[in-house]
Parts: sequence; structure tokens; C-alpha cells
Amino acid sequence: MIQLIRGFKDILPGEVELWQWIEQCAAGLLEDFGFSQIRIPIMEKTELFARSIGEDTDIVEKEMYTFADRKGQLLTLRPEATASIVRAYIQHKLYATDPVRRLYTIGPMFRRERPQKGRYRQFYQIDAEIFGVAEPYVDAELIVILATLCDRLGVSDITAKVNSLGCPECRPAFRQALTAFLDRVAGDLCGDCLRRRRRNPLRVLDCKVPGCRQAVAGAPSLADSLCDDCRRHFDTVCDLLAGRGIAFQADKNLVRGLDYYTRTAFELQTGALGAQSAVAGGGRYDGLVKALGGPQVPAIGFAIGFDRLAEIVARVRKPPLAGPKVFIAALGTRARDLAFQWHLDLALAGITSAMEHGQKSLKSQMKRADRLDAAFVLIVGDSELESGRLILRNMETKEQEEIELDRVTQSLVRKLK
Ligand code: HAM
Repeated sequence: MIQLIRGFKDILPGEVELWQWIEQCAAGLLEDFGFSQIRIPIMEKTELFARSIGEDTDIVEKEMYTFADRKGQLLTLRPEATASIVRAYIQHKLYATDPVRRLYTIGPMFRRERPQKGRYRQFYQIDAEIFGVAEPYVDAELIVILATLCDRLGVSDITAKVNSLGCPECRPAFRQALTAFLDRVAGDLCGDCLRRRRRNPLRVLDCKVPGCRQAVAGAPSLADSLCDDCRRHFDTVCDLLAGRGIAFQADKNLVRGLDYYTRTAFELQTGALGAQSAVAGGGRYDGLVKALGGPQVPAIGFAIGFDRLAEIVARVRKPPLAGPKVFIAALGTRARDLAFQWHLDLALAGITSAMEHGQKSLKSQMKRADRLDAAFVLIVGDSELESGRLILRNMETKEQEEIELDRVTQSLVRKLK
């Protein structure tokens, strides 16, 4: 049997209802906060991701699904949504009348990581981006939105970690200090880090290899060498969050796996998912729109790991799998033919119905109605056809009532709609 691709997964009925509910909660909340939905392609030119996420990142170096198409153009299945949204913002001049735009999208992303619990090669993100606002208000607003969504979904074991990654003003001095530090611990670094330490020393701080994590434990922290503007920006974000009663921790060690960040970076972390602790991550990227060929427009956003969020929500909430409203139990060919017509008419009138298409005893049909969790069963056999009266049974209360044979659809629509 052909199995699905390793690290990919099916979302089956039963689980889908929960996903739909989460999606509705997230989309509703984002729309309340003024976001509009954007739908971007699942593939882009490889260069877009390489230039925005960064050539030296794990995502670009090791995890992208990249291939040459028939004309030899390098294409990549999107590993994240931010780069594409920025591309669309520039390409369609969404800044033309007003640079301030709030956009969100929900969909699958692809990263060829080692699969494990909470980590997949196709996973879903709920992604939100705000363009055109440099002030720290929106940084706090995005974190308030994330905290509110978790709250509405009943997810409690969550901590927001916040850090500042500085700006082109304060980064060079930090880079120098970090490089000097990394030279001293070079003997303990992995091959990737040795290679990256000159080109992009910040990446070393994000390495997952235990030896590297230990080696950089005493590394200087960007948060300690912020310029005045970055410091003020970060302090304001923290004050605004505290003022709204949002529980968060300032975490000097939070670096993020993507190169485009400036100033505020944040993650929602949980203890509920073992090693994969990040449920959402985001931050400011004030230089990316310009770097990709657009005007100088500041921006900030986040992405929620939908799969991870759904795994946590599934523990606290089981949405009921809705069964059909009516199961039509028919005995005999004539009854079955009529049942089929009612089944079609009911569905067309917006009432889900089910029936047994083959010859089955009443007992086995009632069992099936039970298994499907039907709210009502309509029973029709020879004697009902003769009397012109059918029985409608409420499966929960066990009450029965009579329905006239020639008014089945109208009666059920009136009663159940
Ligand atoms: P990210 O931290 O790479 O950020 O991903 C965001 C979230 O996606 C993670 O916190 C995690 O929950 C989920 N995620 C990532 N990789 C996987 C995986 N292999 N399996 C399951 N879930 C995963 C970004 O993608 C940025 N684009 C966020 C952003 C938006 N920054 C600014 N705007």
C-alpha cells in the first residue's frame, strides 16, 4: 500500500471540526482587529526565501523543498508566509494609498525537518502581518491578539517570551563582540557554526546542537547593547503588555531562526508539547520590505503553528462530531425508492440525512442510525405506506410522532430546520 510522505499527515473527520473551529476563532479575532485575508501561492522563486529568511539559516540551508522546474527555474515550496506576503505587498503596491495594511493568511508550509511530535514536513500556519507602523503599540497588540486567541481556545500552559534583536544601528558593535566571543569558544562549536560564525554570528546563538548551546551560554547578549531607540522601543512594548495584564517574560536568549528580524522578537512557548515548545513566533522586520525592492516600510507579524495549537486544544476540548439530523430507515423496494427522494430533498433543503441503500433489517438500520448518532429516525415500511403515516423517532428522548406520507419533506423541514 502506498503510504503518505514521511512528515506529512492527513487531518481526518473528527479532527477537521476542531481545526475549523480554531480557524474560525483565529480569523474572527484577526478580522475584529482589522486584518484582511490574503491568499498567496504555495510556491515561489527560491530566491525570495533565500533573500528574506537568510542564506545561512537552517531553513534555507537544509530544510527547503527546492526543485528546478522543466525550464530549469529554481522553485521552492513555501517554508513560511511572511516572504510571500511582503512580495505581494510590494508587487501589488499595497502601500500606494496607505502603507498601513493588516493582512493574514492560513495555510500549509513545508520544511524538511526531522519529523517528531509537533514537527512535520507539511505543517500549517496562521500568519498575520502589520505593515507601515514603526511604533511599539502594534508589537504589543500582536502579542495581545495571540494571548487572547489562546485564552478563547482554552489553552493555558503558555508563556510569551519577548526580546529585542536591535537594529542596523546597534547590531554592528554587538556583532563584533559576539564574533570575538565565538573565536574564544570556537573549539566547542559544530561545523555549521564554525562556518556561520564569520558571515552571520547571530545564527550561532540559534544552533540546536547541545555542544553549541553550552558553548554560547556565556555569550554577550544583544539586549545588553541596544541603542537608545531600540531600548526605548523594547521598554515600551514591555510596559504596554504589563499594562494589559499579559503574562510575559523578557528573554535575552530568544533569537529566532530567521534573519529578517529587527527589534521586537517574540515566541509563545508551552510545556505541553515536549521538545517542540514554540506554538507561535514572530517579530518586527523593519528592513525587509526595502530589501526586497519595496519602499522603506516597517512591518511586524507572527505565525502560529496550527498543528501544535490544535494538538494542545484537542486535549481541552472535543468538538462533537455532528451526526445526520435524520436517518431514514426503509423496508422494501418501494419504501427505499421514496426514502431516496426524501433523502435528496432534505439535503437540498439543508437537512443532513442518511439512509441504508441496500436491503437491511429494521434492527440493523436502527443500529446504524445509532452509530451515526442521528438525531431522528424516520421509519417507513409496507404498513406505513398503506396507512399513509410514518413514524419519526427522536433518538435522544425516544419520543415518537406521526408524519404524513405525502408531506414528509415539508413536515421535516418545518420541524428540523
Ligand atoms: P517560525 O518561528 O519559523 O516563524 O514559525 C512559526 C511557528 O510555526 C512555530 O512557532 C511553530 O509553532 C510552527 N512551526 C514551524 N516549523 C514547524 C514544523 N516543522 N512543524 C510544525 N510546526 C512548525 C515564521 O515562520 C515567521 N514567518 C513568523 C513571522 C511572521 N514573523 C513575522 N511575521
